[in-house]
Amino acid sequence: MSLQLGDTVPNFTQASSTGKIDFYEWAGDSWVVLFSHPADFTPVCTTELGEVAKLKPEFERRNVKVLALSVDDVESHKGWIGDIEETQSTQLNYPILADPDRKVSDLYGMIHPNANNTLTVRSVFIIDPHKKLRLTLTYPASTGRNFDEILRATKDVDRSGQPFTKISRLRQVFPIEKQALRGKIPPQTLRGCPLLSRLSLGVIDSLQLTDNYQVATPADWKEGNDCVIVASIKDPQELKQKFPKGYKEVKPYLRMTPQPNK
Ligand code: BEZ
Repeated sequence: MSLQLGDTVPNFTQASSTGKIDFYEWAGDSWVVLFSHPADFTPVCTTELGEVAKLKPEFERRNVKVLALSVDDVESHKGWIGDIEETQSTQLNYPILADPDRKVSDLYGMIHPNANNTLTVRSVFIIDPHKKLRLTLTYPASTGRNFDEILRATKDVDRSGQPFTKISRLRQVFPIEKQALRGKIPPQTLRGCPLLSRLSLGVIDSLQLTDNYQVATPADWKEGNDCVIVASIKDPQELKQKFPKGYKEVKPYLRMTPQPNK
């Protein structure tokens, strides 16, 4: 049975890019965002890990530790971290669990066999200091996650795990909510939570785009942003034909192209 909200998450000991981790001990009294990646040296994952490294101070301000997981081994992670730091202009400042035996992936249900038999999907588990599961998200390999949304989720509870009041949540930095608070737009605009609708629309745009074109969308992608060309296309003629607007090769597996249907 898969992990459900309110469950106590299982402990594990596993190797990571920064040494062996006993999860409960490592988490201590902090909140944890545990998030999985399909594989090392893949384009969308590279952008996601870079984005989380840049946001780490924001997570720390909220007493949240971040922990990535990819099914490859520690040696592979160490090589990949070099690429992430070089291409995303950041220092990888948190551990990546190495899970070649799928111990943690199986324990947390990160492998969805009908999506892929061996690689993890993009799972997110937000775990509170009592080791209770408070939020989960599951994205497919082709859609990079929106880390502002994950930060927003950790903002919705204070350090003791109590939900913030509605008004304190509205005081956060989202522009439409802020305008409504200042009386600049009518409060009914908030009905249906426009922030959430904007995020859901972005995810649907990504799913449909990646179904129709051979692209994936990087971390925090929005309609109109550049996309990633899927790794399976290597033939220069095919690349030219499928991506007539051209592309930038950051790494052989990380090639950015303007959104194909724009
Ligand atoms: C990626 O990170 O881009 C990716 C990983 C596995 C499958 C497809 C895409």
